[in-house]
Amino acid sequence: MFSLKDKVALVTGASQGIGRATSLALAEAGAKVAVAARNADKLASLVAEIEAAGGEALAVPMDVADAAQVKAGFQQALAKFGRLDILVNNAAITRDTLALRMKLEDWDAVLRTNLTGAHLCIQQALGAMLKQRSGRIINLSSVVAETGNAGQANYVASKAGLIGLTRAIAVEVASRSITVNAVAPGFIETPMTDPLSQELKDKMKAMIPLGRFGQDREIAAAIVFLASDEAGYITGQVLGVNGGLHAG
Ligand SMILES: NC(=O)c1ccc[n+]([C@@H]2O[C@H](COP(=O)([O-])OP(=O)(O)OC[C@H]3O[C@@H](n4cnc5c(N)ncnc54)[C@H](OP(=O)(O)O)[C@@H]3O)[C@@H](O)[C@H]2O)c1
Repeated sequence: MFSLKDKVALVTGASQGIGRATSLALAEAGAKVAVAARNADKLASLVAEIEAAGGEALAVPMDVADAAQVKAGFQQALAKFGRLDILVNNAAITRDTLALRMKLEDWDAVLRTNLTGAHLCIQQALGAMLKQRSGRIINLSSVVAETGNAGQANYVASKAGLIGLTRAIAVEVASRSITVNAVAPGFIETPMTDPLSQELKDKMKAMIPLGRFGQDREIAAAIVFLASDEAGYITGQVLGVNGGLHAG
C-alpha cells in the first residue's frame, strides 16, 4: 500500500464503520491519526488498537455540527502533532423519511452534520494546510448523490452538496498544492446499513454488478490512495467505489 510516513491525518466519524476502518488503514500506512467523533469511549478503544499495532493516534471527541467544538478539536490535534496533512470528512447521519413528511429539524440536522460539518472542518484544516503549502482533503459522498434515493432527500442533498463543496474548494486551494476529492461509496456493510430490512438488502444486492456489498476496508483503501503523494495530480474528482452499481 502507499506510504503515509510522517503524515498527520484527522478523520471525522472515526468511532465506527468506514471512519474507523479508514483510521486503521491510515495508521497502517504510517500516518499519525487524530480520530474524531462524539463517542469518546469508542475513540479511546480505537486509539488503543492503533497504538497496540505500533502506530500513533489521538482521540478528539467533537461534534462536527458545533463550530466551537470543531475549532477546539483541530487545535487539540495540531497541539499534539504540529501539522495536518490529511483531512477525511466522513461523519454523517441519516434521518430517512419521504420528503412530504420530512420535519424541518430532520432536514436541518442532516445538512448541518453532513455538509456544514465538512465545511467547518475544511476551514480549520486549511489554516494549517495553506501554511504548509500541501494537503489532502477527502470528503465522503455517496452513490445516491448521483442516482437519487426515495426517502432520503436530506441525505442525498447533503451528499450532492459535498460534491459541489469538493469541486469549489479544489479550485480555490489548488495553487497551494492542496488536493480535494470525494469518495462515493455504494452499499457498504457498516452500522449505518445494518438496520435496513433483509428485503431491501436483497433488492439492492441484485442491482450490484459485482454481486456483493462492499466492505469498510475497501473504502479505506481508496482514501489511503487519494491521501498519498502518488495521487498528487488528482483533484476535484469523485471516485466511485460501488461494485459497478453506478457504472455509467
Ligand atoms: N455505509 C454505506 O453503505 C455508505 C454508503 C455511501 C456513503 N457512506 C458514507 O460513508 C460515511 C461513513 O458511513 P458509515 O456507514 O461508516 O456510517 P456509520 O457507521 O453510521 O458511522 C458514522 C460516523 O459518524 C459519526 N458522527 C455522526 N454524527 C456526528 C457528529 N455530529 N459529529 C461527529 N461525528 C459524528 C459517528 O460517530 P459518533 O456517533 O460517535 O459521533 C460515526 O462514527 C458517511 O459519510 C456515509 O454517508 C456510507
